[in-house]
Amino acid sequence: MAVGKFITLEGMDGAGKSTHIPNIVSQIESHGETVVCTREPGGTKLAEELREILLHKAMHAETETLLMFAARREHIAKVIAPAMARGDCVISDRFTDATYAYQAGAKSVSVDKITVLEKWVQDELQPDMTILFDVPVEVSIARLASARTPDKFEREDAEFFEKLRNAYLARAKQYPTRFRIINANQPLKTVAKEVKVTIEDFLLRI
Ligand SMILES: Nc1ncnc2c1ncn2[C@@H]1O[C@H](COP(=O)(O)OP(=O)(O)OP(=O)(O)O)[C@@H](O)[C@H]1O
Ligand SMILES: [Mg+2]
Repeated sequence: MAVGKFITLEGMDGAGKSTHIPNIVSQIESHGETVVCTREPGGTKLAEELREILLHKAMHAETETLLMFAARREHIAKVIAPAMARGDCVISDRFTDATYAYQAGAKSVSVDKITVLEKWVQDELQPDMTILFDVPVEVSIARLASARTPDKFEREDAEFFEKLRNAYLARAKQYPTRFRIINANQPLKTVAKEVKVTIEDFLLRI
């Protein structure tokens, strides 16, 4: 029986997810929780090896989806489920909403197929809260351009990113009690403040 908490961070490349993680971790830790911070695809040795393949090798969009869920199965079995069973708070930089956004929304993989895989791999496991860092496409592209060498996904065009953003916003609309949308197209300090309030609110409820 899961007793821990599960928070996921979502949003387009360059939206700011990774930037805010250290603050989120220390805020939750100062509330007395043990935090396990992880990411997808990845989070275990094998899943990180799958991440390398996923981020750098060209493949059919359904192969990509299957590999994402293979990595996720490993991640849940080795990291997320044990942490939840211990009562820890898990923070994952991306999770299944990213599969719906990237593979279904931007690459047109069937939502029904993803739903089958989700049920198979996760059973009842769902995040308790998902923070969506929302930015306009041009902001995402500009931040990435100045931050690092792009991987396979980050080299996609504006149309891809537009579909991605819309798919994320549609997920948030579909699951309004789980999602918190943060306008990440604001100065870093303002975004950090909104993230802090969001986490504070979550901590009050656990
Ligand atoms: N609010 C902001 N204003 C200006 N720059 C920002 C803001 N948030 C993040 N950045 C910068 O944008 C870049 C990308 O941020 P970050 O790596 O946190 O994005 P990400 O959402 O984790 O992306 P990815 O999904 O590709 O890992 C970094 O250089 C970061 O410093
Ligand atoms: Mg990141």
